[in-house]
Amino acid sequence: MHWNVADLPDQSGRTIVITGPTLGGLGHFTALELARRGARVVLAGRNPTKVEETVAAIRVEVPGASLEALHLDLASLASVRTAAANAAQIGPIDVLVNNAGVMGTAYSRTADGLELQMATNHFGPFLLTGLLLPQLVQSADGRVVSVSSMFHHVAGKSPLGDPREQTGRYNKWRVYAQTKLANLHLTAELDRRMREADLPVRALAAHPGFAGTHLAANGQYGRSRGGVASILDATVKVISQPAAAGAWPSLMAATEDLPGNTFVGPSGLQQMMGTPRIVGRSKLARDEAAAKKLWEISEATVDLQYP
Ligand SMILES: NC(=O)c1ccc[n+]([C@@H]2O[C@H](COP(=O)([O-])OP(=O)(O)OC[C@H]3O[C@@H](n4cnc5c(N)ncnc54)[C@H](OP(=O)(O)O)[C@@H]3O)[C@@H](O)[C@H]2O)c1
Repeated sequence: MHWNVADLPDQSGRTIVITGPTLGGLGHFTALELARRGARVVLAGRNPTKVEETVAAIRVEVPGASLEALHLDLASLASVRTAAANAAQIGPIDVLVNNAGVMGTAYSRTADGLELQMATNHFGPFLLTGLLLPQLVQSADGRVVSVSSMFHHVAGKSPLGDPREQTGRYNKWRVYAQTKLANLHLTAELDRRMREADLPVRALAAHPGFAGTHLAANGQYGRSRGGVASILDATVKVISQPAAAGAWPSLMAATEDLPGNTFVGPSGLQQMMGTPRIVGRSKLARDEAAAKKLWEISEATVDLQYP
């Protein structure tokens, strides 16, 4: 099945929360296309100025867009809890797109004692998903889309150790890969739990292939503009597909009638670019016992059990 952005159905009446909506990234283009089709889009970002930049850019293309901002720092469990409390006024949520992420950051720990990549890419989204679950259920056909990566293939193993302990040398690329494997474990286990509890929520995953966003520059330099960061950002844009195309798998996963636990990625060479289709995943990502174990570790880590 090949999907095209022109296939995106009318989204009027649907409320979609997207994390990480910074201008030029996948979240921005995911929000833009959904707003174009009439969705009410909630842009959940950690930097209010950046979120306003994206709101302004979308309004240029879609003057009547229904856009709201939500402050959210996924690297802080307290911030996630505050954001979820503020999100209560949104009402039923049709789709939560867990898009925000960091890649290849130097070793650091958050105020919660968690390694930064695991905190941002997995534990924050795990907590956010659990806290927004009642609103996803209220929509009667809720969906959680996790943005993973082809990097999950090089994770080596699932991240099942004590998340507050560093054992061995920190390999920033290996840890990033493990966070993207964690996105697939979350998808599989969330979807399984939803069916077991007979709740009307599906979990799906998407990956963008290789898309020209700010991910590499942000990870290496903590910014996407200025000096070497601008050079790396520009280089990535030259050798990758446009960020707008990178958002297509997320859009397909968010809107197409697909079974739970479907993984969507580009159909081109090595899944690096092109129109989206359903794709496979690594053997590790199909390990149901690892997904269950990571879920239990995550519940203990963020101090929330769900469903
Ligand atoms: N681009 C690719 O080729 C590629 C490939 C595979 C997977 N992905 C995945 O795609 C997703 C989107 O990344 P992107 O490529 O669009 O990169 P991006 O342009 O760097 O966007 C990442 C977004 O995440 C936000 N973010 C980072 N840390 C956060 C935090 N602590 N709390 C809240 N938001 C935070 C960033 O906000 P700030 O602007 O404030 O930093 C930004 O909005 C990520 O999950 C990434 O792993 C991308």
